Amino acid sequence: MKGILICGGTGSRLRPLTDITNKSLLPVYDKPLIHYPLSVLLDAGITEIIVVTGTEHINQIQEYLIKNDLYHCNFTFKVQEKPGGIAQALGLAVDECSDGESICAILGDNLYFDTTADTIKAFKSGGHVFLKEVEDPERFGVAELEGATVVSVEEKPTDPKSNLALTGLYLFDSRCFDVIANLKPSARGELEITDMVNWYLQQKELTATVLQDEWIDAGTFESLHKAAVLVREKNI
Ligand code: DAU
Repeated sequence: MKGILICGGTGSRLRPLTDITNKSLLPVYDKPLIHYPLSVLLDAGITEIIVVTGTEHINQIQEYLIKNDLYHCNFTFKVQEKPGGIAQALGLAVDECSDGESICAILGDNLYFDTTADTIKAFKSGGHVFLKEVEDPERFGVAELEGATVVSVEEKPTDPKSNLALTGLYLFDSRCFDVIANLKPSARGELEITDMVNWYLQQKELTATVLQDEWIDAGTFESLHKAAVLVREKNI
């Protein structure tokens, strides 16, 4: 399985910090933000990792990941020139993933405190998402469950059908690149990851895990701060 670490975007919500460095390198207690999603891939035994970045401060990210070979894995770097959506960023990894293997994609600003390695390792085909109960589901992709079955997914709905957020960790089989090639931009002009998830749902090949521990999307000052506090407390 290949890992895809999605670190594009401009980090505009974290200015002025992102004027001087890439969002992925902002500190979360004692390590850069990128360390935490990367650890999810490494914990699952994934060592072939494609890192998708935006154009800003990319040499700093490469230097951090490669210098001193801290992580003992094989990184390939892809640049997304403009933020055209998470699915577009993921699609940039197509050439590295042409061997029919499944992929594990993770957003570079998501921190997980559950153990996800067993689920990732056991994945065979279809799509799999990781859900988390939140108080403000309208800020996220939202999934609706009936029992353990996902029955709908929507990106940032104004009237969410549940309080289960689609977190930024996705398992897809190799068909995902054909799905991306056929996606149409959403109303906000992006290729949406939630539309990819919806494709697997329509095929009745989507499964889900509901996370029990904390999960953080560290894209704002508040959540970045909360992440640091939790990392310190929980010692991850
Ligand atoms: O954090 C989970 C949420 O992430 C999901 O619930 C949503 O379904 C999903 O769309 C996404 O929503 P966000 O509003 O948090 O997406 P954001 O634009 O902040 O991008 C998330 C990460 O993906 C961020 O680290 C930058 C990267 N990204 C984003 C875009 C739009 C890219 O690499 N390229 C892009 O074009």
